[in-house]
Amino acid sequence: MSEAQNIQWFPGHMTRTKRQIQASLKLVDAVVEIIDARIPVSSRNPDLDKLLGNKPRLILMNKCDMADKRETARWIEHYKKYNIPAIPVDCKTGKGLNAFIPEVKKVLQDKINSWAEKGMKGHSIHVMIVGIPNVGKSSFINRMAKKDSAKVENRPGVTRGNQWFTIGKGFELLDTPGVLWPKFDDMLVGERLAFTGAVKDQVIDTEQLAVRLLEILKVDYKTQLAERYKLDSSDFDDITAYELLQRIGKKRGFLISGGEIDTERASITLLEEFRNAKLGCITLEKI
Ligand code: G4P
Repeated sequence: MSEAQNIQWFPGHMTRTKRQIQASLKLVDAVVEIIDARIPVSSRNPDLDKLLGNKPRLILMNKCDMADKRETARWIEHYKKYNIPAIPVDCKTGKGLNAFIPEVKKVLQDKINSWAEKGMKGHSIHVMIVGIPNVGKSSFINRMAKKDSAKVENRPGVTRGNQWFTIGKGFELLDTPGVLWPKFDDMLVGERLAFTGAVKDQVIDTEQLAVRLLEILKVDYKTQLAERYKLDSSDFDDITAYELLQRIGKKRGFLISGGEIDTERASITLLEEFRNAKLGCITLEKI
């Protein structure tokens, strides 16, 4: 994992991104944070909380098509306690996105009312999108931006490279300025990002990663595993995650010369199938 940190993450870049986000905050009315509903903790940079201060916020729990619906609902309740509305979305198909504009307007209701009182009815709403790489920011913007969406550049006060997208009359999105890296300090964070494919797994031992994933799945998602790999639930009793990986390999007929089980191939298959939600809807981080 330390290798992954070295390759992926440079604290200097993060400092610059933080500065850029902070500078752009005064240009927007609200911030929308996109997170991965399967790993709501690891898919966000916790430093954002401090950085965003009191700016009105909305969370989009993206990739909810691949997450455990019950857990997503629990997270939404959890954020509510902190006064942050959250909505489940699937930016690949656009499911749930109809709620986006109304939800932002709800968050900004007081401000919109005060604009109206000042005779500024129809004042444009500016929203900044933030999210770590691969969380679905481009998918979101592509889904929301109308075909005739004008990319507004060189706006005064905007750092060069900041990109604005018009998504409807009087509604503009600002893409994350800079790259908002996840917080790799905790080894588990890097691991979970690797499970979902948000960080490349070439830098992490595939077999070790698959075993770590099985350690979680064999406890929380036993039924899905049993169904997918045609295992008996008794197959899970008193065996290690590595032995479970071997059973999966055997069931799939992944053998190498001498009849040995090809656990490398089983690992690649397991990770791929998890990432494509072939194992069902799974959330790895619960409240
Ligand atoms: P980014 O801008 O934040 O870096 O993320 P991006 O939109 O490029 O999305 C990263 C990957 O996640 C893409 O897959 C994208 O299709 C997928 N994705 C985004 N939102 C969702 C979602 O709600 N559900 C599902 N299932 N997938 C989503 P990719 O494999 O990199 O590309 P492709 O499959 O689109 O070709």
